Amino acid sequence: MPSAAPEPYYITTPIYYVNDRPHVGHTYTTIVADAIARFMRLSGRDVFFLTGTDEHAEKVVESAARQGVTPQQWADRNAAEFQKAFAFAECSHDDFIRTTEPRHTKRVRAYISAMQGSGDIYLGDYVGWYDPSQEEYLTETVAREHDYKSPVTGRELIKRVEKNYFFALSRYQERLLAHIKANPGFIQPEARRNEVLGRLSQGLSDVPVSRAVAPGTEGDAGWGILMPGDEGHRVYVWIDALFNYLSTVDDPEAADGDRTRFWPAQVHLIAKDILWFHAVIWPCMLMALDRPLPKTVYAHSFWIREGRKMSKSLGNFLDLPTIKAYCDAYAGAFGVDAWRWFMLTQGPLGATDADFVHDKFVDCYNADLANGIGNAASRVINMIHKYFDGRVPDPGAPVAGSAIDLESICAERAGGAVALAERGSIGEALRSALGISNAVDQFINDTTPFKLAKVEGRLPEVGAILYRCIEALRIAAVLLCPAMPRSMGVLLQRLGQPAPDAKGAFPDAGTGAPIPFARLIRWGGMAPGSPVALGEGLFPRADPTAAPPVPIPGES
Ligand code: MSP
Repeated sequence: MPSAAPEPYYITTPIYYVNDRPHVGHTYTTIVADAIARFMRLSGRDVFFLTGTDEHAEKVVESAARQGVTPQQWADRNAAEFQKAFAFAECSHDDFIRTTEPRHTKRVRAYISAMQGSGDIYLGDYVGWYDPSQEEYLTETVAREHDYKSPVTGRELIKRVEKNYFFALSRYQERLLAHIKANPGFIQPEARRNEVLGRLSQGLSDVPVSRAVAPGTEGDAGWGILMPGDEGHRVYVWIDALFNYLSTVDDPEAADGDRTRFWPAQVHLIAKDILWFHAVIWPCMLMALDRPLPKTVYAHSFWIREGRKMSKSLGNFLDLPTIKAYCDAYAGAFGVDAWRWFMLTQGPLGATDADFVHDKFVDCYNADLANGIGNAASRVINMIHKYFDGRVPDPGAPVAGSAIDLESICAERAGGAVALAERGSIGEALRSALGISNAVDQFINDTTPFKLAKVEGRLPEVGAILYRCIEALRIAAVLLCPAMPRSMGVLLQRLGQPAPDAKGAFPDAGTGAPIPFARLIRWGGMAPGSPVALGEGLFPRADPTAAPPVPIPGES
């Protein structure tokens, strides 16, 4: 019987503003999406992972002017910075969308035209409070609540009266509410879902979707997509940006192939700052277009640094040079893996912010990587060399002396990790996989192979113990690859096993086809007698008393 085609899995990140350079927040969201995408590829899904840049903001025009370059030059320069940052962080996105690309602008105009045709976009009068720092309009109630200042930056709001195109958001209020109620997983985590439900109970008003073209900035002289049928308006940047999720996969004749099977997306991963756009405006836009809604909008919280919010005025952004300094300072060639591990396991995926504290980074590195998987791997490989000439011993008879059953721990954790990753709980998925190497340590402590090896005639028992350990470590390494592709790939190679490709799938050495997940995690993958290579320790211990690689802002 022909096997069923793998189920598509489409995951997106926000597309980032190009008025500035990338920092830890942007790389965090993209690293989390990357680890999930890698987990899904590993488990055999047909994955499409999208990130990119949002380029038509008015603030790009302002910052370009300050730099003495055109908006396009400024966008090009910063989009390249984002691409470099994500390449550095080993992100495996399948595409990088830039909203100034014709493949996107062309489709946005088509979507808007369709919505004009159905009456979902109409021309009206707008009187409102505009927050220039966030490029968004606030309702009278919200503006008043915040004393007519930006709730985010505290900058004065501007009162604007203008002819504008509106999106008939209010038409979809009931349908959206019903959808959110019927699909508890649609907005995650729970706290964010409740927040949206709370705001929705105040009712929805139609929202402006255009800005008037200022004199002297008509046509090509200006920045932004022109409203179809009206050269006097440009599409408001947020509306333009949200369409990226659809425009990238919506062209069956695209040069890079038909990606239409990927819609609707499984998950839009974002942070809480842009929840309203993603959980309310975007789904209603999709309803207006008669398109299915994404399965989940997952809004994580923020990274702060050493107890303080990161901001330009404090000069405490964890920027790319700082991230690189951390990667250089720990784990040598595997520094990026150590960084990714910290981001993924200590990050703000839930409803509370996470604090980047230097000491916490070092403690996490030592506990999980140096003393955890790194130590367990060298301990077991060294014993196999000492007692079995570097060859995998025979599994032999069941082992006495420990309540730990590594085979069942592996079976349970492997299935669990993929399910957790699919739900977005990437930190938990990885902790669960790391738990295998902790169990290996405990198993060695219980069964003391290093003592048994000294007793005449007990070598087969030592072999049985070490077989279980090396096999469990192999499975742990497979499951940790989505977080630490390089170091775990090297560990797997030392075990004589296939390593993941650049996207996190495991191609068969002979056929090139992906090795099925069930086979990768099946107990018994290590062949007795096969060689295991010694190597440098993967994660050398870090000195917790050493100075941080970059000074901590605000500390002398
Ligand atoms: N361009 C819009 C998004 C349009 S999506 C259709 C935008 N861009 S942004 O450059 O400001 O990026 C915001 C996103 O960056 C957040 O939603 C989050 O994913 C990430 N982060 C920015 N700062 C962050 C932290 N301090 N911590 C964690 N992630 C945060 O909004």
